[in-house]
Amino acid sequence: MTTAKLFSPGSLGTLSLPNRIVMAPMTRARSGQPGDIPTALMASYYAQRASAGLIISEATQISPQGKGYSFTPGIHSQAQVDGWRQVTEAVHAAGGRIFLQLWHVGRMSHASFHPDGLPVAPSALAPDAQVWVVGDDGVGRMVDCPTPRALSQSDIKNIIEDFRQAARRADLAGFDGVEIHGANGYLIDQFLRTTSNQRSDEYGGDRHGRLRFLREVVAAVANELGAHRVGIRLAPFITARNMDCPDIIPTILEAAAYLQQQKIAYLHLSEADWDDAPQIPDSFRQALRAAYTGTIMVAGRYTAERGNALLEQGLVDLIAFGRPFIANPDLPRRLANNLPLADFESSTLFGGDAHGYTDYPALADTAAPHTLS
Ligand SMILES: Cc1cc2nc3c(=O)[nH]c(=O)nc-3n(C[C@H](O)[C@H](O)[C@H](O)COP(=O)(O)O)c2cc1C
Repeated sequence: MTTAKLFSPGSLGTLSLPNRIVMAPMTRARSGQPGDIPTALMASYYAQRASAGLIISEATQISPQGKGYSFTPGIHSQAQVDGWRQVTEAVHAAGGRIFLQLWHVGRMSHASFHPDGLPVAPSALAPDAQVWVVGDDGVGRMVDCPTPRALSQSDIKNIIEDFRQAARRADLAGFDGVEIHGANGYLIDQFLRTTSNQRSDEYGGDRHGRLRFLREVVAAVANELGAHRVGIRLAPFITARNMDCPDIIPTILEAAAYLQQQKIAYLHLSEADWDDAPQIPDSFRQALRAAYTGTIMVAGRYTAERGNALLEQGLVDLIAFGRPFIANPDLPRRLANNLPLADFESSTLFGGDAHGYTDYPALADTAAPHTLS
């Protein structure tokens, strides 16, 4: 089976991409402390992966309130902007392109990250989920998320302003664009679903109301950067984290129609993540294509062959790979030449140093499959 389409040039807004392979956003929890500041090590990690058509950074909190896990980087201080600048410069010097993923976790957080001990959410409903928190003893553990406090309307306006300012800072840090994290049960997703949004004001209720926060965030970020530099990630089929909403598919299709009007750079579907979320049915892909004629990116257990088949059918435009990029910094070359893929070590996914992060080698130029041990 050919994979030629995957290796054909793509485009995104005004950017030309050398191939249709995207590095999916992946939290690796290695920011510098204190201050959640991107480091030179992170710059090396991303630069090693610059042969991707596009890199999407790990999720990055837009404000201290938007944080839910230890050691994740932010984009709300000048030191963070300076830290990210070394990342974007290293990626660009290596010939790559990089977007920053903008993140507010909402209720997926822990008391220790909030001065009043309470994460925020559309409604005061707990997610029945856990986040990774490093305690005073220096040991990271999964801990339960508490019941959040419901946001007031002025809090909501402040968060939209935080998104806008984060987009401005991403631009100052040299990113080619931003991806708004609207997937995986975080704040924007919490507004979309009846299971997590039981508000009676204009940010809740019917689809139009539940989509208002998404619309206002997209508009604020697009005003700041230009819509052609803004993508969004959505996860229609997740059910974990108390997100199993019976109205989510029509809600996402209505979002797609809005995103189409706004002419944003792309819509990114987060599909199978770990073991949650079923395969996306073709009927949904067709309905999405009808509602949204812009660039569609997909992620979730793709192989080169499966991604190429969807590209050939015209249902998607770009394929994002997550886990395969962890231990294969030269993933596009390996996929193009059918070279073996290395496995990653799961104990070094979150937190730590260069081990299990920047020490996975690219294959030597002369390496042929039979010479590998
Ligand atoms: C270690 C790790 C960290 C992740 N962090 C993020 C993240 O920060 N933001 C996000 O939207 N998705 C995140 N994801 C989900 C991935 O972007 C991707 O959707 C998922 O891994 C499925 O793709 P894959 O099967 O190619 O790995 C993460 C996944 C992994 C494995």
